[in-house]
Amino acid sequence: MRISIFGLGYVGAVCAGCLSTRGHNVLGVDISAAKIDMINQGKSPIVEPGLEELLAEGVKTGRLRGTTNVSEAILASDLSMLCVGTPSKLNGDLELDYIEEVCRQIGTALRDKNERHTVVVRSTVLPGTVHNVVIPALEQYSGKKAGVDFGVAVNPEFLRESTAIKDYNFPPMTVIGELDKASGDALEAIYAELDAPIVRKDIAVAEMIKYTCNVWHAAKVTFANEIGNIAKAAGVDGREVMEVVCMDHKLNLSQYYMRPGFAFGGSCLPKDVRALSYRAGQWDVDAPLISSLMRSNAVQVQKAYDMIDNHGSRKVALLGLSFKAGTDDLRESPQLELAEMLIGKGFNLSIFDSNVEYARDHGANGHYIKNEIAHVSALLKSDLDKVVAEADVIVLGNADPRFEKLAKQVPAGKKVIDLIGFMPERTNGAAEGICW
Ligand SMILES: NC(=O)c1ccc[n+]([C@@H]2O[C@H](COP(=O)([O-])OP(=O)(O)OC[C@H]3O[C@@H](n4cnc5c(N)ncnc54)[C@H](O)[C@@H]3O)[C@@H](O)[C@H]2O)c1
Repeated sequence: MRISIFGLGYVGAVCAGCLSTRGHNVLGVDISAAKIDMINQGKSPIVEPGLEELLAEGVKTGRLRGTTNVSEAILASDLSMLCVGTPSKLNGDLELDYIEEVCRQIGTALRDKNERHTVVVRSTVLPGTVHNVVIPALEQYSGKKAGVDFGVAVNPEFLRESTAIKDYNFPPMTVIGELDKASGDALEAIYAELDAPIVRKDIAVAEMIKYTCNVWHAAKVTFANEIGNIAKAAGVDGREVMEVVCMDHKLNLSQYYMRPGFAFGGSCLPKDVRALSYRAGQWDVDAPLISSLMRSNAVQVQKAYDMIDNHGSRKVALLGLSFKAGTDDLRESPQLELAEMLIGKGFNLSIFDSNVEYARDHGANGHYIKNEIAHVSALLKSDLDKVVAEADVIVLGNADPRFEKLAKQVPAGKKVIDLIGFMPERTNGAAEGICW
């Protein structure tokens, strides 16, 4: 394919080298004439192991060339990759000046192009940027319509400096955010030869995936550092601890505990987070991430309460009182916390949880349920259909499979609030997810 790459910094130069080596015809564009000169001499504008060899080979075979002329690059390519910088502003916001400028330039050049061209944003941009900034600029300056006259896609880059070429050749996945199918197809054609899954999504989803990955990496580094600091204060080598923690690919490094939803609870997580934070404080170890976990968890319970409160009706059914379906354990259940908030604020609340109801009448927790939370236990009802029928707002509180159908087919005139993730897709209609 004929590809133009705008911005020959770390990302653009690596893409230029890798794509030309893989047989594509690449035109590199940069506002820095010095960088273009280096590219045309087969030299690397950045220090990156193995890159200079790829660039030199590309120039030698005639598949790679640099230019500062935007029109020339647009006319001589089928697809453009935007790899310009998106640095931080002083206030932390994203600086989009380079993106806006390059879109104005490409839009102007597209005015004179008759064949379909695809513009791919490879720079890291916040969700909404392509729809609110990139497409309007391209449309305004080209006088053409995105998705009709030219294609638009997002293709976040996951390379790590110093291993960038290996990362390009062996990516964990290729994420494509597409405005329309033709744009995604054009981009997929470039990556089809790589041995990695190709994931095609809407543009904003792809934009968000990139931030989620980077923030997750930052959270992992911070978490491991805080564990290391606490471990050191305990006279333990944190490296030894994390090595074993990372051996567990079933729970620790897996999809478990990695789905957006309701707050964590139960007899272990809150107690243990609290104890480790407390002990870290006693040892004068500052662990801001770990110490913030309980606060963040409380925010999620408050969020569920606010969603119920916002509906307006006072007639609420809470389906699921224990922190997890299939147990009667109410210790630190965020669902119980939510129920108490609703009771305290005078909602007309009914609760369905057959495990807790059974435990009240037969189980070891009966004394606690009957006596210590009598105000909650009194609201437990046995008939799920009746509980649903009598409420205006139905809160799906744990993953009891009997609740799932209510998210898929909301009873007429009712509002369902899904804290679990039963809803097949995101809507803001009769069913609403807590964080989807
Ligand atoms: N560096 C990384 O490891 C990495 C990894 C993944 C994603 N990203 C993202 O990729 C983007 C680029 O990062 P980078 O580190 O390569 O940036 P960089 O600053 O190294 O390079 C940006 C290049 O764009 C050029 N440029 C600016 N305006 C231009 C224009 N109008 N036309 C042509 N060229 C122009 C600059 O001269 C510069 O050479 C950023 O959004 C970044 O967040 C970076």
